[in-house]
Amino acid sequence: MIIGVPKEIKNNENRVAVTPAGITEFRKHGHTIYVQTEAGKGSGFSDEQYTEAGATILSTIEEVYAIAEMIIKVKEPIESEYALIKEDQLLFTYFHFASSEPLTNAMIERKAVCLAYETVERTDRSLPLLIPMSEVAGRMAVQEGAKYLEKPMGGFGILLGGVAGVKPANVLVLGGGIVGTQAAKMAAGLGANVTIVDISLARLRYLEDIMPANVDTVMSNEYNIRDLVKSSILIIGGVLIPGAKAPSLITRDMLKLMKPGTVMVDVAIDQGGCFETSHATTHEDPIYEVDGVVHYCVANMPGAVPYTSTLALTNATLPYALLLANKGWKEACASNEELKKGLNVVNGKIVFKGVSDAWNLPYTEVSEVL
Ligand SMILES: NC(=O)c1ccc[n+]([C@@H]2O[C@H](COP(=O)([O-])OP(=O)(O)OC[C@H]3O[C@@H](n4cnc5c(N)ncnc54)[C@H](O)[C@@H]3O)[C@@H](O)[C@H]2O)c1
Repeated sequence: MIIGVPKEIKNNENRVAVTPAGITEFRKHGHTIYVQTEAGKGSGFSDEQYTEAGATILSTIEEVYAIAEMIIKVKEPIESEYALIKEDQLLFTYFHFASSEPLTNAMIERKAVCLAYETVERTDRSLPLLIPMSEVAGRMAVQEGAKYLEKPMGGFGILLGGVAGVKPANVLVLGGGIVGTQAAKMAAGLGANVTIVDISLARLRYLEDIMPANVDTVMSNEYNIRDLVKSSILIIGGVLIPGAKAPSLITRDMLKLMKPGTVMVDVAIDQGGCFETSHATTHEDPIYEVDGVVHYCVANMPGAVPYTSTLALTNATLPYALLLANKGWKEACASNEELKKGLNVVNGKIVFKGVSDAWNLPYTEVSEVL
């Protein structure tokens, strides 16, 4: 198969979808790979390393889209890329369709085959291509939260771990999945008092067993969250309803219950956010304030640590990308339930229920396109 790896053009996105190690694997299976010049630069990989591994370097994004049967990317295509996408072209990347109606409509119109990293799902319902980035974002959420809690950064001016004779900070983590677990571990490691809320009692039981003594678990409901926000100085949002918009667990009126200088990090912003007052921000301009509460809502947090993120992501995506290249998307998806769940929009049809529900658009059973 002819595979194209464009350079990411979203603000401050330095990750790349295939490393030179990945190129070697594709070459071993007889595939041809075109990589846009400097695609790996931000992650520390040079054009020479790609060439040595067997890729051909192309100088423009237009050439990469024009030649490739499969495009492997990191982030969803942005508006300037829409027109480059061809009918029947396979796009394997993060899409997060449920948070962007224009993207959904554009991909329907281009009649591409859109296989979304974030909905590839194992039989145990885990999301293998979200896990590595969620691990990075969860750990980063505490690092960013601690930074913006500093007074000169606009925060309350508190050290997460406190010191002898001074109480540590209270950290509230919404959602005890991958993001929430990693965030709680980091915050607890820094000495904060951490509370994780989740709607899954089974998950809370598990977390209660494995977390250190400075982490409590509480059932997620409006009453408990309204109570917890009063005493929390860092709030991290990491809830997920797969393929759907995140629920608004912190409503605008709750901000008035918080201390001025409280910091809220909405990791779930790529699914629309779990705070009513969230809107997506970038690494260049990551925060804004509403009612004295600092909001950090960067939609591509792992992009700030591209070295770690690229390696973590490609470790997980490569086996699926190889399957797609070796068998073609139809056979690969027909024979692999995990990949099949990744199909979102195929030749103009929405085949993922959460996406059709989000935009009230017609839904087609995935079996009809295979
Ligand atoms: N901003 C970024 O850069 C970035 C990076 C990685 C992941 N994410 C996003 O972070 C979010 C979380 O990802 P994850 O991998 O941890 O997902 P996950 O599925 O592992 O965890 C989500 C958790 O949310 C819980 N949940 C669902 N509804 C809830 C509710 N009403 N109250 C409390 N908990 C609830 C679930 O039970 C689950 O435990 C996703 O939206 C993901 O896309 C963002």
